[in-house]
Amino acid sequence: MAVTGALLLAFVVAHAVGDLKFFEGRAAFDGYSQWLRTLGAPVLGRGWYLWLQRAVLTGAVLAHLAAATALTVRDKRARPVRYLHRPRATTGWAARTMRWSGVAVGAFVVYHVWDVSSAAGHPYRHLAADLRHWYVAAAYALAALVLGAHVAHGLHGAVRSLGGPGARRLSVALAAVVTAAFVAVPLAVASGVAG
Ligand code: HEM
Repeated sequence: MAVTGALLLAFVVAHAVGDLKFFEGRAAFDGYSQWLRTLGAPVLGRGWYLWLQRAVLTGAVLAHLAAATALTVRDKRARPVRYLHRPRATTGWAARTMRWSGVAVGAFVVYHVWDVSSAAGHPYRHLAADLRHWYVAAAYALAALVLGAHVAHGLHGAVRSLGGPGARRLSVALAAVVTAAFVAVPLAVASGVAG
């Protein structure tokens, strides 16, 4: 769970940083998109890195899902009778919704990859036109918030053994920064500040 989570989080952080290029304008954003396609050249051919990334991310998502399922089965076996009053410490809002937030982020990614795949060559123009629809911008912002809750709790679970309130604060802080970066683009376009 932790290894695949860390890999997926590394992608998410890199993606959030890349997204902020949107505020540098069209040339910078489209140039960054081109760079993604020539990454690894001349050893790798055009677009190879992206395919490699898709393969690794798909594998990581499937393994993350398999680990989550295994943990759920183990928990159910360990406690076949439901708690009448669940212990408070482990029933935070994010904890209870971990599975659903994971599924929701997964559903968004399927829509999102379909959405951006039609933007080849001119991602800035596509994104700007897309996010001008308030409902698309809202879906992107909502996905960023759900992802933030998922990351905050997942990261906290992973680093909890390191102890102290610092672990929680650090997890929430990192998730908040990533969420803010992801929300910034749809918010800026929908409100007319950028794009
Ligand atoms: C909310 C703000 C977001 C914006 C504005 C955004 C924008 C984009 C853009 C423009 C691309 C295409 C890049 C290119 O091919 O040049 C892209 C690709 C991608 N995004 Fe996002 N994204 C957002 C959030 C997310 C989130 C939350 C996830 C996952 C948790 C995600 C996962 C991906 C993946 C997997 C790809 C690669 C698709 C491929 O392999 O071609 N994105 N995103």
